[in-house]
Amino acid sequence: MLMQRYRVAVLPGDGIGPEVVDGAVRVLQAVEDAAGTYKLELTYGEAGYNCISKYGTNLPPHTIDLLKATRACLKGPMTTPEELGAPPSAALQMRKMFDLYANMRPCFSLPNVPSLKPNIDMIIVRENTEDLYSGIEFELGTGIAVAMRVVTRRASERIARFAFRLAAKRKKHLTYVHKGNILRQTDGIFKQAVLDVATEFPEVRVDDLHIDAAAMQLIKQPESFDVIVTTNLFGDILSDEAAQTVGGLGVASGANIGEKYAMFEPVHGSAPKYAGQNKVNPIATVFAGKMLLDYFGETESAQAVERSVFEVLREGKVLTYDLGGKAKTSEVAEAIATKVHKA
Ligand code: IPM
Ligand code: MN
Repeated sequence: MLMQRYRVAVLPGDGIGPEVVDGAVRVLQAVEDAAGTYKLELTYGEAGYNCISKYGTNLPPHTIDLLKATRACLKGPMTTPEELGAPPSAALQMRKMFDLYANMRPCFSLPNVPSLKPNIDMIIVRENTEDLYSGIEFELGTGIAVAMRVVTRRASERIARFAFRLAAKRKKHLTYVHKGNILRQTDGIFKQAVLDVATEFPEVRVDDLHIDAAAMQLIKQPESFDVIVTTNLFGDILSDEAAQTVGGLGVASGANIGEKYAMFEPVHGSAPKYAGQNKVNPIATVFAGKMLLDYFGETESAQAVERSVFEVLREGKVLTYDLGGKAKTSEVAEAIATKVHKA
């Protein structure tokens, strides 16, 4: 049988990035061995804050070349500089450069992980290329600055279609989140695009929610959501909130999907104060790896990874400190990898 090969760039990133990425790669290798039908050809590259002093940028040209030579990227957390004039976040550059327009962030209740309700299972679909992330900001005069909220029909329509397709495969319920009562032009375009695309998916129930009400509803009745679709900044904020409803950023992962490329990452940051301690939870990055397998159509392997994570959590013996355990990052990864062989 022909061995399927997938070229993947691995960018460990900053802070705890190398540790959690090592953990995810350990699990990916285990599941690849267990399947025996495909090969992930991993090539490591450098990106992130650590590159700025060396190259003056957080996404050096040789890394961009590496991304272009691969089909997808597993990316660790990276520290984003906040100073004026500093390069924009490496993740943002990648999202824009490869037009990774759909940011998918699943949040579901996990065994033995504190969750607001036991039956939460939602995905936030966040438009990933425009809105207040346009990066267009001006200082008009001293003490006055403006930022451009760019919303286009084209981007709104394609994110709406992506979200509807996903909802059609899940519980057939889509909630679109906006602030159209205030942002009448920009969210007017977004809303209309969602409503127009809705006519292509009559089987999907559609709910309309303002961002403030959505933020409250996420706490009050998180189990009532299936797919949420929203603009970039609202999606950024809601996805951290949604992650917290099911146990926090230690277990939350995201996929950034475009027509030709995809990037997978944990939602959490680089947590520099824990760097090098082999202490933090690798599960968010393991789940990012699971989504990478789904992207390649290696569904059985993806499910094996998910089942193994669930089992390790259910047993509750090998857990990192955030979940009340004492295990190390590498031990949790190893426990998951061991289960993969039996899954
Ligand atoms: C995320 C992060 C990024 C974002 C930052 C690091 C630029 O918070 O992926 O959610 O705002 O998109
Ligand atoms: Mn964020």
